[in-house]
Amino acid sequence: MPDENELSGSPQRRPRPSPTSIGNHKLKPSTLMMGFGFDPALSEGSLKPPVFLTSTFVFENAAAGKRFFEGVTGKRPGGAEGLIYSRFNGPNQEILEDRLCVWEEAEDALTFSSGMSAIATLLLTFVQPGDVIVHSGPLYAATESLIAKILGRFGVSWLDFPAGATREEIDAVLAKAKDKGRLALIYLESPANPTNALVDVEAVAAARDAAFAGESSPPIAIDNTFLGPLWAHPLKHGADLTIYSLTKYAGGHSDLVAGALTGRQKLIDQVRMMRNTIGTICDPNTAWMLLRSLETLELRMTRAGENAAKVCEFLRSHPKVETVGYLGFLEDGSRQADIYNRHCTGAGSTFSLYLKGGEREAFAFLDALKIAHLAVSLGGTETLASAPAAMTHLSVPEERKAALGITDNLVRVSIGVEDPDDLIADFANALNAV
Ligand SMILES: Cc1ncc(COP(=O)(O)O)c(C=O)c1O
Repeated sequence: MPDENELSGSPQRRPRPSPTSIGNHKLKPSTLMMGFGFDPALSEGSLKPPVFLTSTFVFENAAAGKRFFEGVTGKRPGGAEGLIYSRFNGPNQEILEDRLCVWEEAEDALTFSSGMSAIATLLLTFVQPGDVIVHSGPLYAATESLIAKILGRFGVSWLDFPAGATREEIDAVLAKAKDKGRLALIYLESPANPTNALVDVEAVAAARDAAFAGESSPPIAIDNTFLGPLWAHPLKHGADLTIYSLTKYAGGHSDLVAGALTGRQKLIDQVRMMRNTIGTICDPNTAWMLLRSLETLELRMTRAGENAAKVCEFLRSHPKVETVGYLGFLEDGSRQADIYNRHCTGAGSTFSLYLKGGEREAFAFLDALKIAHLAVSLGGTETLASAPAAMTHLSVPEERKAALGITDNLVRVSIGVEDPDDLIADFANALNAV
């Protein structure tokens, strides 16, 4: 007689649960990154997960295949019980998703082929023609284009509030949005790029809850690329989903492109169905590289944050520097400092450097750097610098650039893990060349 398992289709061979505490002592994410979610016994005793290069997975029997498909198609609640096909999921991505949840204390996570494919899949999941999206502003330029230009083609409209908006300003925008149509999603990015302005997530959540009391309410998703997963945990402040470009700090070595969402199970399950359909999952090799990156995430981000504090301290008093837009320099008692104190545990390592002068001075500075590389991105082991007005934000209309402080003398800097004295020497030397 076959046993019940065989009749219903055997479940996926689950890894042995990884310890998350020793007695009453809860293990920290930096410790869990070495092995959480991976059972060597399932991979020939291999200490590290192999890269599972396969496009599909063999079912133990036909009943198992049926059962897995019932889960993946939503015919039966609870999702797929086993691996089916690599467009849906694979071992490397599942381990990575489990480890991303650890940092955010999230119910579940999904990985994607890029930050933008995570954002696109999220939007396609929740937004229907005629809907309204409310977002903080500014957003990463491609996200703004996706919402305004691409979803705009499907009759979706948007309203925004400035990143540092007060509860009253947020209330007003939500009321306006409700008048306009079905509010599908509240989309935030904090800190905003390149203004570094922080969003008051607690105020947004309170405003959403007040505006939709007794009704089904739109989810709050927030792009946490700049401070997460170490220095900001928006799920604790009322967000439902966090969004990542894993290309940045999580990957951390400027050698991969990937994205993620973490958050509430019910919402993640909805996005998973969309990801399964359109195939925006991260590939196994990239997932494996990210597992390696996460082992040093805390070390890298901590060192980069300490380096940035030292470099910014040097820059703020330099005679050729107009001002430094760094989260560590928020004015005591200001609204931004209040949001920072409630939401953040570190100032990050990406900041805006405004030089005295204009494009000529910014270019002279960039061209004279010897350690920092002239490239657009952030969160890598190496320091990067670029001129947003001439590069990432070149196509932004002049009035909007002015409103956002994207002036010709702005240099965006992402500090890496080099020796801080070497970085200061590099910046001092480049400022001399201006
Ligand atoms: C804040 C933010 N969100 C999303 C993205 C998009 O991520 P990706 O380049 O991985 O698609 C970026 C890229 O720079 C970003 O800075």
